[in-house]
Amino acid sequence: MAEIGTDLQTAIALLEKGELVAIPTETVYGLAGNALSSAAVAKIFDVKQRPTFDPLIVHVPDLAAAERYVREIPEPAKKLAEQFWPGPLTLLLKKRSIIPDLVTAGLDTAGIRCPNHAITRSLLASLSFPLAAPSANPFGYVSPTQAGHVNEQLGGRIPYILDGGSCSVGIESTIVGFENSEPVVYRLGGITIAQIEQVVGPVRVTVNSSSNPKAPGQLKSHYAPRKKVIHSRLSDVIGQLTPAETGIITLGIVNLARPFAHHIVLSPSGTLDEAAQNIFAALRQMDKIDVVKVIVAEPMPNEGLGIAINDRLNRAAAQS
Ligand code: TXA
Ligand code: MG
Repeated sequence: MAEIGTDLQTAIALLEKGELVAIPTETVYGLAGNALSSAAVAKIFDVKQRPTFDPLIVHVPDLAAAERYVREIPEPAKKLAEQFWPGPLTLLLKKRSIIPDLVTAGLDTAGIRCPNHAITRSLLASLSFPLAAPSANPFGYVSPTQAGHVNEQLGGRIPYILDGGSCSVGIESTIVGFENSEPVVYRLGGITIAQIEQVVGPVRVTVNSSSNPKAPGQLKSHYAPRKKVIHSRLSDVIGQLTPAETGIITLGIVNLARPFAHHIVLSPSGTLDEAAQNIFAALRQMDKIDVVKVIVAEPMPNEGLGIAINDRLNRAAAQS
Protein backbone atom coordinates (compact mmCIF):
# COMPACT_ATOMS: atom_id res chain seq x y z
CA MET A 1 0.00 0.00 0.00
CA ALA A 2 1.06 3.59 -0.54
CA GLU A 3 2.02 5.88 2.30
CA ILE A 4 -0.76 8.39 3.03
CA GLY A 5 0.36 11.70 4.47
CA THR A 6 0.32 15.46 4.34
CA ASP A 7 4.04 16.06 3.83
CA LEU A 8 4.60 18.41 0.89
CA GLN A 9 8.35 17.82 0.88
CA THR A 10 7.85 14.09 0.32
CA ALA A 11 5.50 14.80 -2.57
CA ILE A 12 7.86 17.35 -4.10
CA ALA A 13 10.88 15.05 -3.86
CA LEU A 14 9.04 12.14 -5.49
CA LEU A 15 7.61 14.25 -8.32
CA GLU A 16 11.02 15.81 -9.00
CA LYS A 17 12.44 12.28 -9.35
CA GLY A 18 9.79 11.44 -11.96
CA GLU A 19 7.66 9.35 -9.59
CA LEU A 20 3.88 9.57 -9.28
CA VAL A 21 1.96 11.02 -6.32
CA ALA A 22 -1.82 11.02 -5.82
CA ILE A 23 -3.01 14.54 -5.08
CA PRO A 24 -6.24 15.95 -3.69
CA THR A 25 -8.23 18.50 -5.66
CA GLU A 26 -11.63 20.03 -4.97
CA THR A 27 -13.19 17.70 -7.60
CA VAL A 28 -11.59 14.26 -7.25
CA TYR A 29 -8.11 12.90 -6.42
CA GLY A 30 -5.63 12.96 -9.29
CA LEU A 31 -2.75 10.62 -10.17
CA ALA A 32 -0.02 13.19 -10.76
CA GLY A 33 3.32 13.22 -12.51
CA ASN A 34 5.62 15.77 -14.18
CA ALA A 35 3.65 16.87 -17.26
CA LEU A 36 6.86 17.84 -19.09
CA SER A 37 8.39 14.37 -18.71
CA SER A 38 7.23 11.70 -21.17
CA ALA A 39 8.63 9.04 -18.86
CA ALA A 40 6.56 10.22 -15.89
CA VAL A 41 3.47 10.58 -18.07
CA ALA A 42 3.96 7.05 -19.44
CA LYS A 43 3.86 5.77 -15.84
CA ILE A 44 0.48 7.45 -15.35
CA PHE A 45 -1.02 5.61 -18.32
CA ASP A 46 0.50 2.36 -17.10
CA VAL A 47 -0.66 2.60 -13.47
CA LYS A 48 -4.18 3.62 -14.51
CA GLN A 49 -4.34 1.04 -17.32
CA ARG A 50 -5.49 3.91 -19.47
CA PRO A 51 -5.40 3.75 -23.28
CA THR A 52 -2.94 6.29 -24.67
CA PHE A 53 -5.61 7.76 -26.98
CA ASP A 54 -7.21 9.35 -23.89
CA PRO A 55 -5.43 12.65 -23.10
CA LEU A 56 -4.52 13.95 -19.63
CA ILE A 57 -5.32 17.27 -17.97
CA VAL A 58 -2.35 19.51 -17.10
CA HIS A 59 -2.61 21.23 -13.71
CA VAL A 60 -1.06 24.66 -13.19
CA PRO A 61 -0.86 27.06 -10.21
CA ASP A 62 -2.44 30.03 -12.03
CA LEU A 63 -3.28 31.66 -15.37
CA ALA A 64 0.24 33.11 -15.74
CA ALA A 65 1.67 29.60 -15.56
CA ALA A 66 -0.87 28.37 -18.12
CA GLU A 67 0.49 30.95 -20.57
CA ARG A 68 3.87 29.21 -20.50
CA TYR A 69 2.36 25.99 -21.86
CA VAL A 70 -0.19 27.19 -24.41
CA ARG A 71 0.14 29.21 -27.60
CA GLU A 72 -2.95 31.33 -27.23
CA ILE A 73 -5.81 31.97 -24.85
CA PRO A 74 -8.95 33.08 -26.70
CA GLU A 75 -10.83 35.96 -25.09
CA PRO A 76 -13.69 33.83 -23.72
CA ALA A 77 -11.16 31.38 -22.24
CA LYS A 78 -9.43 34.23 -20.45
CA LYS A 79 -12.74 35.43 -19.05
CA LEU A 80 -13.65 31.95 -17.85
CA ALA A 81 -10.25 31.44 -16.23
CA GLU A 82 -10.45 34.80 -14.49
CA GLN A 83 -13.89 33.97 -13.17
CA PHE A 84 -13.52 30.30 -12.21
CA TRP A 85 -9.81 29.60 -11.52
CA PRO A 86 -8.80 28.21 -9.19
CA GLY A 87 -11.75 25.89 -9.58
CA PRO A 88 -13.41 22.93 -11.33
CA LEU A 89 -12.96 24.14 -14.90
CA THR A 90 -10.64 22.68 -17.57
CA LEU A 91 -9.90 24.71 -20.71
CA LEU A 92 -8.78 23.04 -23.95
CA LEU A 93 -6.09 25.33 -25.38
CA LYS A 94 -3.56 25.06 -28.24
CA LYS A 95 -0.47 23.59 -26.62
CA ARG A 96 3.17 24.55 -26.97
CA SER A 97 5.63 21.83 -27.96
CA ILE A 98 7.08 21.74 -24.42
CA ILE A 99 4.02 19.62 -23.49
CA PRO A 100 4.81 16.09 -24.73
CA ASP A 101 2.42 14.63 -27.34
CA LEU A 102 1.80 11.69 -25.02
CA VAL A 103 -0.01 14.03 -22.59
CA THR A 104 -2.52 15.13 -25.23
CA ALA A 105 -2.76 11.85 -27.15
CA GLY A 106 -1.37 13.65 -30.19
CA LEU A 107 -4.04 16.39 -30.13
CA ASP A 108 -2.88 19.96 -30.65
CA THR A 109 -4.83 21.16 -27.62
CA ALA A 110 -4.08 20.47 -23.96
CA GLY A 111 -6.61 20.42 -21.14
CA ILE A 112 -5.40 23.01 -18.62
CA ARG A 113 -6.80 23.39 -15.13
CA CYS A 114 -5.94 25.33 -11.99
CA PRO A 115 -7.34 23.28 -9.10
CA ASN A 116 -8.72 24.84 -5.95
CA HIS A 117 -7.26 22.89 -3.06
CA ALA A 118 -4.86 24.51 -0.59
CA ILE A 119 -2.28 21.73 -0.30
CA THR A 120 -2.20 21.08 -4.04
CA ARG A 121 -1.90 24.77 -4.79
CA SER A 122 1.15 24.91 -2.49
CA LEU A 123 2.52 21.86 -4.25
CA LEU A 124 2.05 23.37 -7.73
CA ALA A 125 3.60 26.65 -6.60
CA SER A 126 6.68 24.78 -5.32
CA LEU A 127 7.35 22.85 -8.52
CA SER A 128 9.12 24.05 -11.65
CA PHE A 129 6.79 21.98 -13.86
CA PRO A 130 3.02 21.46 -14.20
CA LEU A 131 1.34 18.21 -13.16
CA ALA A 132 -0.42 15.87 -15.57
CA ALA A 133 -3.17 14.17 -13.57
CA PRO A 134 -6.14 12.05 -14.54
CA SER A 135 -8.55 10.93 -11.83
CA ALA A 136 -6.70 8.43 -9.60
CA ASN A 137 -8.80 5.36 -10.43
CA PRO A 138 -8.36 2.43 -12.80
CA PHE A 139 -9.63 3.44 -16.28
CA GLY A 140 -13.43 3.40 -16.49
CA TYR A 141 -14.05 3.04 -12.74
CA VAL A 142 -15.61 5.54 -10.33
CA SER A 143 -13.34 8.51 -9.45
CA PRO A 144 -11.84 8.71 -5.92
CA THR A 145 -12.91 11.47 -3.55
CA GLN A 146 -10.90 10.36 -0.50
CA ALA A 147 -7.27 9.28 -0.03
CA GLY A 148 -8.49 5.83 1.08
CA HIS A 149 -10.30 5.33 -2.26
CA VAL A 150 -7.01 5.84 -4.10
CA ASN A 151 -5.17 3.48 -1.78
CA GLU A 152 -7.70 0.67 -2.27
CA GLN A 153 -7.08 0.47 -5.98
CA LEU A 154 -3.76 2.06 -6.86
CA GLY A 155 -1.98 1.87 -3.49
CA GLY A 156 0.15 -1.05 -4.58
CA ARG A 157 1.52 0.88 -7.54
CA ILE A 158 2.38 4.35 -6.22
CA PRO A 159 4.61 5.47 -3.35
CA TYR A 160 2.64 8.36 -1.86
CA ILE A 161 -0.86 9.77 -1.52
CA LEU A 162 -1.08 13.39 -0.41
CA ASP A 163 -4.08 13.48 1.92
CA GLY A 164 -6.35 16.49 1.53
CA GLY A 165 -9.46 15.02 3.11
CA SER A 166 -12.74 14.53 1.26
CA CYS A 167 -13.11 16.47 -2.01
CA SER A 168 -15.36 19.48 -1.55
CA VAL A 169 -17.00 19.40 -5.02
CA GLY A 170 -16.95 15.65 -5.60
CA ILE A 171 -17.39 15.41 -9.37
CA GLU A 172 -14.83 16.21 -12.04
CA SER A 173 -14.16 19.54 -13.69
CA THR A 174 -16.29 20.94 -16.50
CA ILE A 175 -14.33 20.81 -19.78
CA VAL A 176 -14.65 23.73 -22.20
CA GLY A 177 -12.97 23.92 -25.59
CA PHE A 178 -13.07 26.59 -28.31
CA GLU A 179 -14.03 26.29 -31.96
CA ASN A 180 -13.20 29.50 -33.80
CA SER A 181 -13.01 31.08 -30.34
CA GLU A 182 -16.60 29.95 -29.60
CA PRO A 183 -16.83 28.05 -26.30
CA VAL A 184 -18.08 24.44 -26.45
CA VAL A 185 -18.70 22.30 -23.36
CA TYR A 186 -17.32 18.76 -23.74
CA ARG A 187 -17.86 17.43 -20.21
CA LEU A 188 -20.39 18.50 -17.60
CA GLY A 189 -18.81 19.01 -14.19
CA GLY A 190 -18.32 21.15 -11.13
CA ILE A 191 -19.06 24.46 -12.88
CA THR A 192 -22.59 24.49 -14.29
CA ILE A 193 -23.56 25.50 -17.82
CA ALA A 194 -25.57 28.35 -16.28
CA GLN A 195 -22.44 29.66 -14.53
CA ILE A 196 -20.46 29.49 -17.78
CA GLU A 197 -23.19 31.23 -19.76
CA GLN A 198 -23.25 34.07 -17.25
CA VAL A 199 -19.67 34.85 -18.27
CA VAL A 200 -19.55 34.12 -22.02
CA GLY A 201 -23.17 33.96 -23.14
CA PRO A 202 -24.87 30.93 -24.74
CA VAL A 203 -22.61 27.89 -25.25
CA ARG A 204 -22.92 24.73 -27.29
CA VAL A 205 -22.85 21.50 -25.28
CA THR A 206 -21.64 18.33 -27.02
CA VAL A 207 -21.20 15.88 -24.20
CA ASN A 208 -22.97 12.98 -25.89
CA SER A 209 -21.06 12.42 -29.10
CA SER A 210 -19.78 9.11 -27.83
CA SER A 211 -19.02 7.48 -31.18
CA ASN A 212 -15.86 9.52 -31.63
CA PRO A 213 -15.45 11.26 -28.31
CA LYS A 214 -13.31 14.32 -28.20
CA ALA A 215 -13.09 13.65 -24.47
CA PRO A 216 -13.29 9.95 -23.64
CA GLY A 217 -14.80 10.94 -20.28
CA GLN A 218 -17.80 11.21 -22.60
CA LEU A 219 -17.65 7.50 -23.41
CA LYS A 220 -21.07 6.13 -22.81
CA SER A 221 -19.93 3.67 -20.16
CA HIS A 222 -17.52 5.30 -17.75
CA TYR A 223 -17.45 6.28 -14.08
CA ALA A 224 -18.90 2.82 -13.44
CA PRO A 225 -18.83 0.47 -10.47
CA ARG A 226 -18.56 -3.28 -11.13
CA LYS A 227 -22.18 -3.94 -10.18
CA LYS A 228 -25.19 -3.30 -12.37
CA VAL A 229 -26.43 0.27 -11.95
CA ILE A 230 -30.01 1.34 -12.65
CA HIS A 231 -30.60 5.07 -12.94
CA SER A 232 -34.36 5.45 -12.57
CA ARG A 233 -37.04 6.63 -10.26
CA LEU A 234 -37.57 4.15 -7.45
CA SER A 235 -41.30 4.15 -8.01
CA ASP A 236 -40.75 2.94 -11.59
CA VAL A 237 -38.61 -0.08 -10.69
CA ILE A 238 -39.40 -0.90 -7.07
CA GLY A 239 -41.77 -3.73 -7.96
CA GLN A 240 -39.01 -5.60 -9.82
CA LEU A 241 -36.37 -5.33 -7.09
CA THR A 242 -35.31 -7.82 -4.44
CA PRO A 243 -34.79 -5.58 -1.38
CA ALA A 244 -32.12 -7.83 0.17
CA GLU A 245 -29.99 -7.68 -2.98
CA THR A 246 -30.54 -4.06 -3.97
CA GLY A 247 -28.63 -1.01 -2.81
CA ILE A 248 -30.51 2.21 -3.25
CA ILE A 249 -29.10 5.72 -3.46
CA THR A 250 -31.47 8.66 -3.03
CA LEU A 251 -30.95 12.40 -2.93
CA GLY A 252 -32.83 12.98 0.31
CA ILE A 253 -34.69 11.04 2.97
CA VAL A 254 -37.53 8.96 1.54
CA ASN A 255 -40.11 6.83 3.27
CA LEU A 256 -40.46 3.53 1.45
CA ALA A 257 -43.27 1.05 1.76
CA ARG A 258 -40.69 -1.73 1.51
CA PRO A 259 -37.47 -1.17 3.45
CA PHE A 260 -34.15 -1.80 1.75
CA ALA A 261 -31.28 -3.09 3.86
CA HIS A 262 -28.80 -0.95 2.01
CA HIS A 263 -29.88 2.63 1.46
CA ILE A 264 -27.59 5.64 1.17
CA VAL A 265 -29.05 9.14 1.44
CA LEU A 266 -26.73 11.56 -0.39
CA SER A 267 -27.96 14.66 1.40
CA PRO A 268 -30.40 14.55 4.33
CA SER A 269 -31.34 18.16 3.50
CA GLY A 270 -31.72 17.32 -0.20
CA THR A 271 -29.07 19.74 -1.48
CA LEU A 272 -27.37 18.95 -4.78
CA ASP A 273 -23.94 20.30 -3.79
CA GLU A 274 -23.85 17.84 -0.90
CA ALA A 275 -25.11 15.05 -3.16
CA ALA A 276 -22.23 15.74 -5.58
CA GLN A 277 -19.75 15.48 -2.69
CA ASN A 278 -21.08 12.05 -1.75
CA ILE A 279 -22.16 10.35 -4.98
CA PHE A 280 -18.88 8.60 -5.89
CA ALA A 281 -18.26 7.40 -2.32
CA ALA A 282 -21.81 6.03 -2.28
CA LEU A 283 -21.26 4.05 -5.50
CA ARG A 284 -17.99 2.68 -4.13
CA GLN A 285 -19.62 1.71 -0.84
CA MET A 286 -22.42 -0.17 -2.57
CA ASP A 287 -19.91 -1.89 -4.85
CA LYS A 288 -18.17 -3.30 -1.75
CA ILE A 289 -21.25 -4.83 -0.10
CA ASP A 290 -21.29 -8.50 -1.14
CA VAL A 291 -25.03 -9.09 -0.89
CA VAL A 292 -25.82 -6.06 -3.06
CA LYS A 293 -26.20 -7.22 -6.68
CA VAL A 294 -27.89 -4.17 -8.16
CA ILE A 295 -27.48 -0.47 -7.38
CA VAL A 296 -30.47 1.79 -8.01
CA ALA A 297 -29.70 5.51 -8.02
CA GLU A 298 -32.60 7.89 -8.43
CA PRO A 299 -32.28 10.77 -10.91
CA MET A 300 -31.42 14.14 -9.39
CA PRO A 301 -33.43 17.26 -10.26
CA ASN A 302 -32.04 18.63 -13.55
CA GLU A 303 -30.65 21.83 -12.08
CA GLY A 304 -27.34 22.99 -10.61
CA LEU A 305 -24.91 20.11 -10.03
CA GLY A 306 -27.83 17.70 -10.43
CA ILE A 307 -27.25 17.83 -14.20
CA ALA A 308 -23.64 16.64 -13.91
CA ILE A 309 -24.55 14.00 -11.31
CA ASN A 310 -27.20 12.63 -13.69
CA ASP A 311 -24.61 12.57 -16.48
CA ARG A 312 -22.27 10.42 -14.34
CA LEU A 313 -25.09 8.10 -13.23
CA ASN A 314 -26.20 7.62 -16.86
CA ARG A 315 -22.69 6.59 -17.81
CA ALA A 316 -22.37 4.31 -14.79
CA ALA A 317 -25.66 2.67 -15.82
CA ALA A 318 -24.59 2.30 -19.47
CA GLN A 319 -22.05 -0.36 -18.44
CA SER A 320 -24.70 -2.81 -17.38
O1 TXA B 1 -11.63 17.33 -12.13
C1 TXA B 1 -10.85 16.84 -12.94
O2 TXA B 1 -10.81 17.23 -14.12
C2 TXA B 1 -9.95 15.72 -12.45
C3 TXA B 1 -8.93 16.28 -11.46
C4 TXA B 1 -7.90 15.27 -11.02
O3 TXA B 1 -8.32 17.43 -12.01
N1 TXA B 1 -9.28 15.10 -13.56
C5 TXA B 1 -9.92 14.29 -14.43
O4 TXA B 1 -9.09 13.72 -15.36
O5 TXA B 1 -11.12 14.08 -14.38
P1 TXA B 1 -9.52 12.48 -16.27
O6 TXA B 1 -8.30 12.13 -17.02
O7 TXA B 1 -10.11 11.42 -15.43
O8 TXA B 1 -10.57 13.08 -17.24
C6 TXA B 1 -10.13 14.07 -18.12
C7 TXA B 1 -10.96 14.09 -19.37
C8 TXA B 1 -10.81 12.83 -20.17
O9 TXA B 1 -12.09 12.42 -20.57
C9 TXA B 1 -9.99 13.29 -21.37
O10 TXA B 1 -10.35 12.60 -22.52
C10 TXA B 1 -10.35 14.75 -21.47
O11 TXA B 1 -10.48 15.16 -20.14
N2 TXA B 1 -9.27 15.55 -22.08
C11 TXA B 1 -8.06 15.84 -21.56
N3 TXA B 1 -7.33 16.55 -22.43
C12 TXA B 1 -8.09 16.73 -23.52
C13 TXA B 1 -7.90 17.36 -24.79
N4 TXA B 1 -6.76 17.96 -25.10
N5 TXA B 1 -8.92 17.33 -25.68
C14 TXA B 1 -10.08 16.71 -25.38
N6 TXA B 1 -10.31 16.08 -24.22
C15 TXA B 1 -9.34 16.08 -23.30
MG1 MG C 1 -11.39 10.00 -14.98
